[in-house]
This record gives sequence, C-alpha cells and structure tokens, in this order.
Amino acid sequence: MNMDNVVSYFSGGPAKIPNEVLEQVSRDVLQYGNTGVGVLEISHRSPAFLAILDNAITTIKELLDVPPNYRVAFFTGGGNGQFSAVPLNLMNRTGKADYIVTGTWSKSAAIEAAKYGTVQHVLPEGSTFMGVPDVSTWKLDPDAAYLYYCDNETIQGVEFATRPVPPEGVPLVCDMSSNICSRPVDISKFGLIFAGAQKNIGCAGVTLVIIREDLLDAPRSPHCPVILDYAVITNKNSNYNTPPVYAIHVLGETVSWVKRQGGIEEMKNRSDAKSKLLYSTIDSSQGFYVNEVKTENRSRMNVVFTVGAGEDRNKDLEAKFVEEAGKENLKALKGHRDVGGMRASIFNAVGIEHVRKLVVFMDKFRNENSENESSETRKLVDINK
Ligand SMILES: Cc1ncc(COP(=O)(O)O)c(C=O)c1O
Repeated sequence: MNMDNVVSYFSGGPAKIPNEVLEQVSRDVLQYGNTGVGVLEISHRSPAFLAILDNAITTIKELLDVPPNYRVAFFTGGGNGQFSAVPLNLMNRTGKADYIVTGTWSKSAAIEAAKYGTVQHVLPEGSTFMGVPDVSTWKLDPDAAYLYYCDNETIQGVEFATRPVPPEGVPLVCDMSSNICSRPVDISKFGLIFAGAQKNIGCAGVTLVIIREDLLDAPRSPHCPVILDYAVITNKNSNYNTPPVYAIHVLGETVSWVKRQGGIEEMKNRSDAKSKLLYSTIDSSQGFYVNEVKTENRSRMNVVFTVGAGEDRNKDLEAKFVEEAGKENLKALKGHRDVGGMRASIFNAVGIEHVRKLVVFMDKFRNENSENESSETRKLVDINK
C-alpha cells in the first residue's frame, strides 16, 4: 500500500475508528436497515435500537468473556462521569476508598471522589508519574469500600503490567478507558470496570460499565443522580432515558470489528508489535528521543517521547517534529498539553503500517537534526533501566 497520501492518525482520543466501521455507520445515518429512516432518527424504544443494544452488549460479553454474575451497561457523562459515579454508588459502605494515583486521570478521579468521602492514597507521597511504584511501598486498607486504579494513563503513557490485588473483600475498580479490548482481562477479579468508548471501542458519547451484580445493592449516596445510578441504569437495560443511540451503534460495530479481526488475543499481539517498534526506535536513537517511563510500565497504547531529556530537552525540535510529521500526513502526534513532547496513540484501529511509516520518519528526522544537537544531548540516556 502506498502510504504517501494516507493520513496516519495518532490521536489520544477521540481516536481512529476502523475504516470499515466508519463506512458502515455512515451508510446507516442515511438509511438504517429496512426502517426507512436513518439510525440517528430511530426511537430508543424501537426494535431496531433494541437489537443494536443487544448486539453491543452480547459482543462485549463474548469478547471479554464476561462471567454471568456481571452486568454490562452504557452510561453518558464519559470517564469523568464515572469519576463521580464510582464514589456516589460504592463509597458509602465504609465511607473511604483507596486510590492508586499513577497519572492525570487517576488523580482527577481521586479529587472527584474526595467530594463524597475519604480518599486514601495507596502510593507513597512524592510518587512521580513515571511508572507504578513497587507493591512493597503500597498502603492498602482492608476496610476501604473499594480499591481504584487506572490501567493505562493516556497522558503519561503509564500502563499497569499486572493487576493490583486488593485486600480480601475489597472490590477492585478500574478505569480501562484507554486500553480496554487490547489485552485479555480476567473480569472475575474486578468489582467494576469502566471505559469511555472514544479510544478503543468507538466514539465519544457512551461509557461502558461492567459491574459485578452484588455491587448493585451497595448502599449508594442519597445524592447519587439517577442517571449515574448503577442499579437503575443496568436494571433498565441502559434504556432508562434516551441513551446515545448512535454512539452505542458505533460501539457495537467497533467491537464486532474487533471480533472479526480475531478478538482480544489478536489485538494484544498487534499492540505488542506496534509498541515494540516504537520503543525500539526510541531506545536505539542514542538519546535523541527519550521515554522516561519505567520499562515494565511503558504503555502499549500511548507512546510518549521527548527530544532529549532534562536540561538537554529540546522543545524547539519537538515542535519541528510535530510540524514536519504533519506535512507527511503523520497527524496528531503533539503530546498532551500537560506534558508536551510527542505522543503516538496506537489504539486498536491504528494499523502497524502507520507505525512503520512513523518510525521511518523518526529515523529520518533524527538523522537530519542530530547534528544540531550538543554532544551532551546525544549521550545515551538510560534512565529507564
Ligand atoms: C484513561 C482515561 N480516563 C478518563 C478520561 C476522561 O474521559 P472523558 O473525557 O470521557 O470524561 C480519559 C480521557 O482521555 C482517559 O484517557
């Protein structure tokens, strides 16, 4: 395939949606099945939508091997909505919860939860967002209402290598917004998993929630809005009020695409191959490109890197990188505004051919620009090890 005129899109979200899915859902906007109208116009009580809902839920259950005592539901309000929903529904049991803060998103979740009860920080004070500190340094409370973590921090590019183990009886709650469906997960070890759809499983507007049934009986806050109430929304089969019909349709089509591609194991193999290619390009650049995340926690979804590091970091070259990459149709590589630098988000819909094109560009850019760098910057930076 000649990639010259093809846009390679590395956005952190909303992110690339498989072309096959885009073609299908755009046809459906004009005419959905034999309904005589488009999917944006069908009633949320119609048989057509109930079938869309059923397909989305069934496919998720199948793909992720969801045990029978778990419910799959769709919420509005995005990941941030769940930052509130989790404490509003689950914190009241003991009034306190443990948070493992490894980056911007788990930090935001902890700040939000503190409005509703006591947030206890599991990691030692001063932990930087460069990886997950060793378990021996963690402080876990057996009386916490739940243990919360974010499996993949999209902004810092930090991903858990293994699932945290909570004390006996403490439900594990996880934000999987940016790595759901990218590796196998043992759902039975979780109390609740949520994921905004707009990275790996569709478009913005819908948030997937997988919840263990017994937690639907947890003593929720009297202030929990009905729209964030896990029991209400799941018991009404995600159709309590008008749900985001189109976003649920896109989600259903995207997870069906994952299934056709070979399922979660295949997505894992692809993610491993894509991320290895990028990290090996960074690591063999003799310090021109730097990723400072602890090796075992380097994200397979969001590969962040800078030009040089510390005092030798060269932000001018980073800006030039993003600009020149853009001219070659390598788009959305600018790092998140909180951290700067570059970020290549390589969610499921980003094929390896795009990553191959990116690493060729990275090598070319380094060759063209490393002469301008001081020898200090070119020294091998080995902070990872
Ligand atoms: C891991 C993670 N959690 C939560 C959020 C927040 O999601 P939303 O913008 O849907 O509220 C994001 C957004 O990028 C994210 O990456």
